[in-house]
Amino acid sequence: MRIFIDSANIDEIREIHSLGFLDGVTTNPTLVAREGRDYHQLISEICNLVEGPVSAEVIAMDYQGMMREARLLAAIHPNVVVKIPLTEDGLRAISSLRKEGINTNATLIFSCNQAILAARAGASYVSPFIGRVDDISYDGVALLKDLIEILDQYLLDTEVIAASIRHPMHVTAAALAGSHICTVPYAVIKQMIKHPLTDAGIERFMNDWKRVF
Ligand code: E4P
Repeated sequence: MRIFIDSANIDEIREIHSLGFLDGVTTNPTLVAREGRDYHQLISEICNLVEGPVSAEVIAMDYQGMMREARLLAAIHPNVVVKIPLTEDGLRAISSLRKEGINTNATLIFSCNQAILAARAGASYVSPFIGRVDDISYDGVALLKDLIEILDQYLLDTEVIAASIRHPMHVTAAALAGSHICTVPYAVIKQMIKHPLTDAGIERFMNDWKRVF
């Protein structure tokens, strides 16, 4: 499973990138707005920092507007993947962008059927939001498993990005489910690294060493 960071913060992305395992980045309008910076400039900086797909979302909700924004975003860098919300206009845009050779990430996916339609329309990636499913007392991981089984069964070449990750167990569950990618917030990546037994082990090794040398 490849690991993306779900962030638009350059410092966070730079720090995690320096750890050597980062495969890509996803952003969304909320994350970008938090930075208060020029959108295209920010996406360009991220693309120059990380060698991998960088998802940047359209703000327009109508087909023509999505197409206009998507072309501008895709022109920033070859690694830009245009994030398109799963609506009727979104499906039209995904299909047209596929024909233009622009990669898309179908976002705000909450059902297997939405993922099937996005894949058939030509999305390069689908992003099921498992945390937001859990938030309304349904099982986000179960949705992820079903969706992966379906896409695998029909050998659709769309890749699954497990998104809306809330805690480290979501990442493990995504890996067990066979997700191609998991996009993880900065704080959860930090939690994944830490283990109390690793800390205790380091302390004991250091103390034993210092007692003799
Ligand atoms: C995915 O691409 C989205 O940016 C993100 O995972 C949404 O997560 P949230 O539900 O924590 O906002």
